[in-house]
Amino acid sequence: MRNLAALVLAAAAAALPAAAAPAPTGAELFARSDKGFCIACHQVPKGAGPATRSDLGPALEGRRMRELGRAALRAIVVDPMRANPGTVMPPYGRHRILDDAEIDRVVDYLDALP
Ligand code: HEC
Repeated sequence: MRNLAALVLAAAAAALPAAAAPAPTGAELFARSDKGFCIACHQVPKGAGPATRSDLGPALEGRRMRELGRAALRAIVVDPMRANPGTVMPPYGRHRILDDAEIDRVVDYLDALP
């Protein structure tokens, strides 16, 4: 019985680090090469993310993002091919590169860009 309890505790402890890892922020999802890697194509204003020379996609800045609005931003990230079938931007939602909650955080990040 004591061994069983120890085993259960050990299993719970082993499962903890993954469960407790904080979810990546919108900024992290935007930059990380294993997530959105949006910085491969887009620049953001100084201080809002890593400085790059990427120019495959337009530079993203806050005023334009807020003009587009959250619904349009979400639609672009989910599936930019709906608006432009020839785009090189990946359909992050349709291809499940990012999940719904991650897309929400990326949209928060875009909406708050300087
Ligand atoms: C492979 C290059 C590439 C990647 C990676 C990429 N995009 Fe794009 N993105 C583009 C291009 C090119 C456009 C221009 C519109 C088009 O092609 O339809 C665009 C357009 C946009 C727009 C609209 C900009 C405007 O002013 O109208 C937003 C917002 C955007 N991308 C956000 C993102 C986000 C967020 C990510 C990561 C989750 C991302 N992009 C990843 C290439 C990329």
